[in-house]
Amino acid sequence: MQIVHTLAQLRQALSAYRHPAVVPTMGNLHDGHLALVRAAQPLGDITLATIFVNRLQFGPHEDFERYPRTLEADCAQLEAAGCDLVFAPSEAEFYPEPQTYKVQPPAALADILEGQFRPGFFVGVCTVVLKLLACTQARSAVFGKKDYQQLLLIRHMVRQFALPVDIVGIATHRSADGLALSSRNGYLNPAQRAQAAELSRALHGVADALRAGNTDYAALESQALQSLRTSGWAPDYVSVRRQTDLQAPAPQDPMVVLAAARLGETRLIDNVEV
Ligand code: PAF
Repeated sequence: MQIVHTLAQLRQALSAYRHPAVVPTMGNLHDGHLALVRAAQPLGDITLATIFVNRLQFGPHEDFERYPRTLEADCAQLEAAGCDLVFAPSEAEFYPEPQTYKVQPPAALADILEGQFRPGFFVGVCTVVLKLLACTQARSAVFGKKDYQQLLLIRHMVRQFALPVDIVGIATHRSADGLALSSRNGYLNPAQRAQAAELSRALHGVADALRAGNTDYAALESQALQSLRTSGWAPDYVSVRRQTDLQAPAPQDPMVVLAAARLGETRLIDNVEV
């Protein structure tokens, strides 16, 4: 596996390939990322992972500075998973001048749910993903469904800009107790880790009720919020939405239940499709 840090090296490493399949990451990898790498392998003639902690998608009081940078361990895992190439640029390499050209995603999708609680987050995500797709000339790109809204926005962006890349979404990887794998799980202390699966349990509770025909979405959301509060969480939202555009669903729509909540200082997100 080759590891490159500059755009010139990246272009050289990709020059013999016609169909790169890319897994964009911010590093601090876990089994969920490695599943994305394995899913990418049959999609291209080279499998490439990017590792870049993207300052643009962090708010001023978020965890950009303390986000774990674990390049050596990440590369060892990627190599074992069969990745061919890693692009891990420095900030100065990736943003050599202030990134004043940015992608402005539509408010109807980007300013709700995560966007409401993390203003500017999806401007940062869409901008870096567009740039990573341009740099890697990816023909396939693989993302996890845990970041459900992110995946939807990236699909819409790629469609609207007619980018020649297939966006592939992969099911969320979970621990045995149901906790969605996330790099931020590493912030949890042992007591919090023992509580953490409550988030997916609350979502599954709402999903089960929806499958059983309950259409009182507001009541289901407020019960889930209450049960999270009772078990020590500070939830930002629990919300039943339509899968296609994350707007309010009609009973016959394919739905998704999404949540974000804080356990101590750690903010986690999760979702369950219905
Ligand atoms: O999901 C992530 O890890 C990041 O948001 C992404 C897509 C790599 C962009 O920085």
